[in-house]
Amino acid sequence: MNLETMTLFSPQLAARFDALVKKYPLKRSALIPMLLYAQDEIGYLSDAVVAEVAERIGITELEVRNVATYYSMLRFKPAGKYNVQVCTNISCMLRGAYDVYERFQEELGIGPKGVTADGVFSLEEVECIGACCWAPAIQVNYDFHDELKPELVPGILAGYRGKAKAEGKVAHA
Ligand code: FES
Repeated sequence: MNLETMTLFSPQLAARFDALVKKYPLKRSALIPMLLYAQDEIGYLSDAVVAEVAERIGITELEVRNVATYYSMLRFKPAGKYNVQVCTNISCMLRGAYDVYERFQEELGIGPKGVTADGVFSLEEVECIGACCWAPAIQVNYDFHDELKPELVPGILAGYRGKAKAEGKVAHA
């Protein structure tokens, strides 16, 4: 692949990648930021994304996958526009995280790792997201919501549904 003429990514992101790999003494140090930016733009780490990132850094696709599978925020399958991550580690669990997680499943009509039919939401259970002092906590894309209770779940979802509609990103609203 000639990366100057053929890339999966937007010109802006391709330029960002070019700058990133030059920034680090070791190109592979750019791997995680590149994967996060690629996921933000494409939605998930498809085979083609993995292949291009590997080529840009000069490592194998297997090396990319070996690193990426350690990180729960990186996905190899498409997620919803808003990916709801519910922390169920100890602090959150002790303060009702499983009740919150169940309420999300009920409200969305999907199970763990599911995606809603309109593609707006996906849901997953994750390890500590670093908000233990405000447990139970969740992360929706890059937003944090903390000190949650099941009764707050419908309002949170309604907020994101409204945003998705405003952006015209609901397939069957
Ligand atoms: S245990 Fe849930 S944020 Fe740390």
